[in-house]
Amino acid sequence: MGTAKRQPWVVGVSGASGTPYAASVIRALLAAGEAVDLIVSRAARLTILDETGISFRDAHWRTDLAAWLGSDQGLDDVRYWSAGDFAAGPSSGSYPAKGMLVVPATTGAVAGIALGLSKDLLQRVASVTLKERRPLVVCVREAPLNGVTLKHLVELDAQGAVVLPASPGFYAGGSTVRELVDFVAGRVLDAVGVPHSLYLRWEGELGAAARRVDDNGGGRIEGE
Ligand SMILES: Cc1cc2nc3c(=O)[nH]c(=O)nc-3n(C[C@H](O)[C@H](O)[C@H](O)COP(=O)(O)O)c2cc1C
Repeated sequence: MGTAKRQPWVVGVSGASGTPYAASVIRALLAAGEAVDLIVSRAARLTILDETGISFRDAHWRTDLAAWLGSDQGLDDVRYWSAGDFAAGPSSGSYPAKGMLVVPATTGAVAGIALGLSKDLLQRVASVTLKERRPLVVCVREAPLNGVTLKHLVELDAQGAVVLPASPGFYAGGSTVRELVDFVAGRVLDAVGVPHSLYLRWEGELGAAARRVDDNGGGRIEGE
């Protein structure tokens, strides 16, 4: 990051299925040279354990994050805050965060943010992000959605958040799980203008992405 003032994106990982979305977003932010402040909710420890086998520990977050991301590259640009630490830097609007990405977002986090509950640091920082009029992306993961969550999502939209369902598109030619995960992660970064090459963009020609993937031997054309 050099000597310039550090201005991180806060990544809030809540306890919804879909922890690969969070890993992809974090990897891509670091690859783009962005600093990351990471918050992992208590419930997200269960989903990380369930989906990756990793026990995510506050005291060993760096080791556990490296295992989760599959690399320790860029981790010097990551700051970790415990979900119970209401004195953490990003809990204040004066902390120079660029904005926040909640990936994946539970219906509980959606409710807490929409209602301003601040029941943990993740929800508090989301409320701060809204009050400071900074970008907030909420990547909700639940199916089906009940009526109260739909109301909360409309409320988040009204407050200026980007509601971005963890719902991959297939027009980018992705066929592997990794490619579909990266599609969602790429749309999260698109919402806040961070450059990436996580998926092949629509260029106005039916079937073009699939052909480009074929021409490239089945993989994506640009790597992360
Ligand atoms: C393995 C596992 C998967 C879960 N998946 C989801 C999910 O996809 N969406 C959701 O809204 N909640 C899901 N939950 C439930 C949330 O973890 C639970 O509601 C929790 O209170 C959310 O807390 P948080 O928002 O502080 O992370 C899941 C829980 C577990 C243990």
